[in-house]
Amino acid sequence: MNPTSNTLEARGAYFEQLYRDAADPWLVRQRWYEARKRALLLACLPQQHYRHAYEPGCGNGELTLALARRCERVLAADLSPQALLLAQQRLDAAGPAGHVTLARHQLPQDWPRTGKSADKFDLIVISEIAYYLSAEELALVAEQAVASLAPGGTIALCHWRAPFAQRILSTVRVHDAFQHAPGLHCLVRHEESDFLLGVWSNDARSVAQKEGFA
Ligand SMILES: C[S@@+](CC[C@H](N)C(=O)[O-])C[C@H]1O[C@@H](n2cnc3c(N)ncnc32)[C@H](O)[C@@H]1O
Repeated sequence: MNPTSNTLEARGAYFEQLYRDAADPWLVRQRWYEARKRALLLACLPQQHYRHAYEPGCGNGELTLALARRCERVLAADLSPQALLLAQQRLDAAGPAGHVTLARHQLPQDWPRTGKSADKFDLIVISEIAYYLSAEELALVAEQAVASLAPGGTIALCHWRAPFAQRILSTVRVHDAFQHAPGLHCLVRHEESDFLLGVWSNDARSVAQKEGFA
């Protein structure tokens, strides 16, 4: 992707070509770095089980599969049809995953409309995608995430820190948008030289407070 010709169309074509050239462009299935990062993200989620998760930018479905084990329903989405095909294959290979729906969504315009509280997500996971958004798109995504979060729900973000050519926004800038979002409380801030991991909720209580012993 050429950052100077950063139209939505160019961005879509860039990711589509990546997944056509390689089924696992970031080696999320091979690298210990990726497996450990996924395990950390999952360990930082404050609830054991979730009712309905939304994972935009799901890529080839590796994190989707892990989320599916914690959630009654998962809506996993990506702008690349090839990524969605690979995610479907990954889910199929792992066994029945009828509670996972895959959809083509391009953020921010395709963020799902959630009306009644029953439709809202109690988990939203944004992993390694938000630095591809412009500042205006990020602001909209943060707003949409807060608006579609069920009471007591969780928003988790995880992003590589070092600059790279296709990145539009810095990881600090991306996580700050959620840190300063009205109505969200930071539950976890995990910082390493390689990545930032943040967890927010509209319920400020800690895990121990929610379980009633703090
Ligand atoms: C680096 S991969 C991350 C995949 C996965 N979330 C993970 O953490 O391993 C980024 C993914 O975001 C998708 N993506 C990028 N911009 C997007 C947008 N505006 N809307 C939806 N998906 C997008 C790409 O197609 C790609 O699959």
